[in-house]
Amino acid sequence: MSHYANHVETLQARFDEALQATGFESALIYSGQAAVAFLDDNPYPFRVNPLFKYWLPITDSPKSFIYYRAGQKPVLYLYKARDFWHAPIDIDVTLWGDFFELKVVESLAQVRSDLGDALASTALIGELYEPLDGWDTAAKNPQSLIDHLHYQRAVKTDYELECLRKANTLAARAHNAARDAFYAGASELEIQHAYLAAINFREQEVPYNSIIALNQHSAILHYDVYDRVASAESRSFLIDAGATYNGYCADITRTYAAKKTGFYQELVEAVDKAEQAIISEISPGTSYYDLHVSMHHKIAQILVDFNFFKISPEEVYERGYTNAFFPHGLGHYIGLQVHDVGGFLKAADGSSYERSARHPFLRLLRDIEPGQVFTIEPGLYVVDQLLEEFDGNDDFNWTRITELRPFGGVRIEDSVLVTANGTENLTRDAFDALK
Ligand code: GLY
Ligand code: MN
Ligand code: MN
Repeated sequence: MSHYANHVETLQARFDEALQATGFESALIYSGQAAVAFLDDNPYPFRVNPLFKYWLPITDSPKSFIYYRAGQKPVLYLYKARDFWHAPIDIDVTLWGDFFELKVVESLAQVRSDLGDALASTALIGELYEPLDGWDTAAKNPQSLIDHLHYQRAVKTDYELECLRKANTLAARAHNAARDAFYAGASELEIQHAYLAAINFREQEVPYNSIIALNQHSAILHYDVYDRVASAESRSFLIDAGATYNGYCADITRTYAAKKTGFYQELVEAVDKAEQAIISEISPGTSYYDLHVSMHHKIAQILVDFNFFKISPEEVYERGYTNAFFPHGLGHYIGLQVHDVGGFLKAADGSSYERSARHPFLRLLRDIEPGQVFTIEPGLYVVDQLLEEFDGNDDFNWTRITELRPFGGVRIEDSVLVTANGTENLTRDAFDALK
């Protein structure tokens, strides 16, 4: 059986279990539609409902539905309007045609009448545009069903892993083009163009706004306003950018020093080494939270090794200083969404872990299991806003911090699959295959 055939079988079993547990007979998943700008008639880029692309590798078909009744073959209601304004949807059924009943519709009313009385025992999952909001379904976006489905999604099927590997291959190729553009002296916007051109992507096809940051900009965690003119001196380059394949996401960060010698280059190497060291600590049954704390200790060690502090690494962590340099989480699940769902869920019934007061931005508190894919993305930056409260504190070596400020910071990010006895690094494997 193909990976995709197995994937559909797994989804049927997951939905059967989730529907049974939450008291519905069927689910109707709306692909969504593009929102329109205020006081305008131009739409924002369309983003498909993740639970729609969970079933099908179709990301560009608004106003379509998947209907799944427990135990039965799923139905795709594919929306094709009689419309001379827009290009018709061109759908390739090769991969999935055998596993779905395909019904082409011209209106949402057709779907409603085709489903008839079945709607009354159906949970509708999707953004509630008119007229869907008025349909007599059993429930609309019931949290119990969504939690159940989200909990299950943490473990990836073989088909999903194939898609994630391909997304990483695309992103790695684009990253290499971006790196070359940086060393050729390009501006941030030129680097973004080189990135997209390398994989023939439109900007709306990348899974999140690429972070393309030169010099101090790399300390701005979600920097996405690209300078159009190259800076007089490019000292450092941090790129956090992804790609998608069949709707599955890659999320990769690399950092480069313009000069291949000197303390900033050494700092990049130290963070890179620590990132690989933390990956080697991953094993099923351990907790991602513990991994995050272990990373803080490694960052504390780097901060002391590079003379950012006059105290011990233990004191740097205990006094809360690492949070100022590494303020975000170690990582998150990744899959159909860049920040994939379910990281706080303790069980399929929706019970959840409490967020840590010391580490409030960590999105993944679940234990580590085979089949999960998550990112590992330590960073170390000079974020002045976070350092303000320590102004004048003698534990800090402010001269060293002043030296790092013009470079911004460092982040290295890979996506990792947990296997029965360790990990597969989807990102490093993708880069290696391009060598
Ligand atoms: N690119 C967003 C993140 O790394 O989480
Ligand atoms: Mn990430
Ligand atoms: Mn990222």
